[in-house]
Formats: sequence, C-alpha cells, structure tokens
Amino acid sequence: MTLGDTTQTLQMPSVSIHGSHLPTPASQLERLFPGSGARLHAKLDQLQLSGSTKERTARFLLDELVHSGALLPGGTVVESTSGNLGMALARQCTLRGYTFIAVVDERANGAATRTMEAFGARVDEVKTPADGNRLRARVERVQQLLAEIPGAVTTNQYGSLANPSAHATTTMPELVASLGAPPDHLYVAMSTTGTLLGCQQAIESAGWSTRLVGVDAEGSALFGGSMGERKLPGLGAGFETDLSHEAHPSVVHRVSEADMIRGCRLLARREGILAGASTGAIVAAIGRDLPSLARGTSVAMLVHDGGSAYLPTVYNDAWVRSEIPDAEHVLAGTATPNPFVEQA
Ligand SMILES: Cc1ncc(COP(=O)(O)O)c(C=O)c1O
Repeated sequence: MTLGDTTQTLQMPSVSIHGSHLPTPASQLERLFPGSGARLHAKLDQLQLSGSTKERTARFLLDELVHSGALLPGGTVVESTSGNLGMALARQCTLRGYTFIAVVDERANGAATRTMEAFGARVDEVKTPADGNRLRARVERVQQLLAEIPGAVTTNQYGSLANPSAHATTTMPELVASLGAPPDHLYVAMSTTGTLLGCQQAIESAGWSTRLVGVDAEGSALFGGSMGERKLPGLGAGFETDLSHEAHPSVVHRVSEADMIRGCRLLARREGILAGASTGAIVAAIGRDLPSLARGTSVAMLVHDGGSAYLPTVYNDAWVRSEIPDAEHVLAGTATPNPFVEQA
C-alpha cells in the first residue's frame, strides 16, 4: 500500500476544535475485572487538551460569564482550584485573551501549577489554616482578590449551573452515543458534584434508567461525610457545595486513599490506562459493587484525568510507604480477578 492509498482511505476531519473540549471515546475494559460478567466501558476524558474533564466545565463557565455580561474583553478571572479546573481555565483564558488567577492550596500538584503558569496564569497559594480546611481558605482568598481587582469575576464552579450544564449537554450525550444506549450503571467521582449533577440532569430529562453512583473520598464533607485529612487531590470537598444540594446519586461510595491507589495501579497494569486518584476510586467502587450486579449489565465510568501528575504520589512506592497506612497491602501485586471483593 502506498502513502496515497492510506490518505484516501483515512477519514480524519480537520476541525477548529482546540479552543473547545474534545468529544472523547468510551473504551471497553475487558481485562480490569476478568470474569465479572459486566460490560465495562471507560470514557477517556484524560484526552482533553488540558488533561481532564474540567476542560468541559471551564468552557461552559467562561461562556456563561461572557453571555451574562460579567466578563468583559481583556478581563480577569479568579478561581479556587486544586489543579484541573485551573489548568483548563488557564488554557482557555489564554486563548480568549483574559488574565487568569488560580487560587491554590499547599496540596496542589506542582505539575498542575507549573502548567497553569506555562499558559500564562498567575498562581496564588494560600497556607493551610489551623482547622485544616484548605478549601474554605481558598474560597475566602478568591473573595479578597475579587474585592481588590476592578472588574474581576469568579467562575463559581461550586455553584454555577453552567458547571453541570457542561456535562448534561456534552459528557452524558457523548457517552450514550459511544455506547449506543444509556449504561445501566454510571460511576462518577465528585468534588463540586458538577459532573455528577449534569449526568443526572441528562438522565432525568431523557427518562433513562441509569443508576448513578457517586464516588467520594473518605474525609470529604459531601453528602453528610465527616471531614478528615486527605492527601490526594481531585475528588472530595471540605464543605457541602451548593451544587451537591441538587444532586441525588443512587449510592455514594466513600473510598480510602489506599483503595484509590490500588484502583489506579490495577487500571494501569491491566488496561494500560494511567489515571488519577479519582479514577482509581471509581475502579475500587466498581470492584466492590460487581458481585451484586447482574451478569451482562453495562457499567460506565469516567476517566476524569490522566496519571502523569500522580507519578510522585499514587505511583511512587516510597511515597505510598511513607504516607499510606497498610502500605504493603496496597503495594502487593494481585492475581485475584477482583481484589476489592473482600471489602464489599
Ligand atoms: C480528577 C477529577 N476528579 C473528579 C472530577 C469531578 O469533579 P466535579 O464533581 O467537580 O465535577 C473531576 C472533574 O473534572 C476531575 O478532574
């Protein structure tokens, strides 16, 4: 076959999409839980140009601010973010000509803050307050910056309805189009709960019977959880977000950091997908549920972000040994088809 033959048969449209989010594929996972009887698919949102599902959220949050007249050309956007929304907003603000200030805390991933700076953002780090509630400290710093900078606006990711709208109109419809039908079960990790709420809105408005499972971190205050120390970013929240009051997942799974790490490592070794902590939490939650799910049932999950930023933590044996209780259990390889069943 010549090069000419190849280029004639390939269907690769050239589209001006880099300022938007990318529609991402859902990939079948055949090796993750062998013999489970479930049909498991992962929507690969780590392929977004800023590396996470937040690319969709950022786009919709900015569009809403522009449409409402709050954000004027050349204006300043301020947001509290642990990393992914910051990278997405930094990328989109630079494309649209806005200044972006990311308010982060000491737990923020260094690779994430350097990425924001590479896109031209200013990174403003708050110290951990005495009560340990870093999220609340960041929100207070955002209010301070808004008062100081004329015309500055915040995207309000914890309360803006543009956040779930991104997922009601893109994430869930894309997933259903990929699968050819709504999944029987959908697993989504939660922080603002925007992704989950948007998927819920799409499910309700279409009348689908998908069971929506929310995956949270142990130590998160969402849905009545009790606050505790959390070392890994991505999922969980230090307070009940405004959006979470509208969200009603069928079930909430709370996952320990040890199980997030086990889930991440299983996904990497069995499926060749390098994902972040929240996706590892989803893998653990699915593992726990599988024994109670009907054979042939379809289970979909989101890969919210990629794993490169987690190489110094989740995928680093020395870090796991120093930070995670029962590290040897976490690090032990497993040949068990479903290593999460003993905890079900
Ligand atoms: C790593 C990660 N985990 C979980 C989520 C879900 O977060 P939220 O509830 O704020 O939509 C996201 C959203 O982009 C994410 O990037």
